[in-house]
Amino acid sequence: MKDGYWLVGFQYELSGYVYSLGRIPRCKSAMLKHLKEGDKVMVAGVGHGTEAIEASRLGADVTAVDLSETMLRHFRRRIEKENPPKEIRVIHDDIFNVNEPGQYDMVIANFFLNVFSETRVREVANHLGSLVRPGGYFVVGEFVLPGRGLKGLIQKINWYIAISFYSATTEAVFHPVWDYPGLVEGAGCTIEDIEYFPILGVDLYWSILGRKKA
Ligand SMILES: C[S@@+](CC[C@H](N)C(=O)[O-])C[C@H]1O[C@@H](n2cnc3c(N)ncnc32)[C@H](O)[C@@H]1O
Repeated sequence: MKDGYWLVGFQYELSGYVYSLGRIPRCKSAMLKHLKEGDKVMVAGVGHGTEAIEASRLGADVTAVDLSETMLRHFRRRIEKENPPKEIRVIHDDIFNVNEPGQYDMVIANFFLNVFSETRVREVANHLGSLVRPGGYFVVGEFVLPGRGLKGLIQKINWYIAISFYSATTEAVFHPVWDYPGLVEGAGCTIEDIEYFPILGVDLYWSILGRKKA
């Protein structure tokens, strides 16, 4: 299986923390407040697994999927070190090989949709939406869609620095910021909440909570 993060996967969590001055990890866990004990959670493209471990601590039954053995090695190390209360099901595979429609109370895609091309990202979002049970949640943590003026320019620079680095070192595709609320809606969900994570008054990251019709 292809490991797109063999070169830079080791530093992913730390550099995200430093680059965003702590906003990215907070963004990843923001919507876990909607979980109830015993909820089934899918974390797609889990990486080092910050929110997966947190969800387990909150009593959820977590399944985590990633294509990269490097990322999963770091995730497993964290599981060993942090010893979350419930066993986490770890799947080393392409998310498209997970065919469990309507099985999850919450599906989380944090900084995952941004690795795909314009056509592929719609397919991925729709597939993730299909894993959510009726009435369940689809959560996307991402870079904010740039607005106008100086703030929009800062938002664009923030995104293009990140994607320039990751498209050069991984299989991530170089592209503008996608319309993530639109993708969540396109996957059959209604947007119920958006939490922003600003630096010096500029919104740079957001966590989007979609809910599938019951
Ligand atoms: C940009 S990283 C984000 C990691 C993590 N969600 C985070 O926020 O730290 C994208 C992750 O998605 C994984 N990935 C990419 N394509 C995938 C696919 N088709 N199926 C499963 N995982 C995939 C990569 O290996 C990588 O770990």
